[in-house]
Amino acid sequence: MYVCICQAVTEDEVHACVAAGARTARQVRDITGAGRDCATCIRKVCAILKRSEELVGTA
Ligand code: FES
Repeated sequence: MYVCICQAVTEDEVHACVAAGARTARQVRDITGAGRDCATCIRKVCAILKRSEELVGTA
């Protein structure tokens, strides 16, 4: 499923980015390009980041 339509970035790519150490929407943008154009996807990227923090917190 696409998170960012403008840059064709998928949810899996954002997860891979987080697994590689990205912790902010800016880091995800710099690596994947998500949010570089219209920025509509930033909220989705932030939601994925927040969810990953929660999962790390419960591990
Ligand atoms: S949907 Fe991500 S920059 Fe437009």
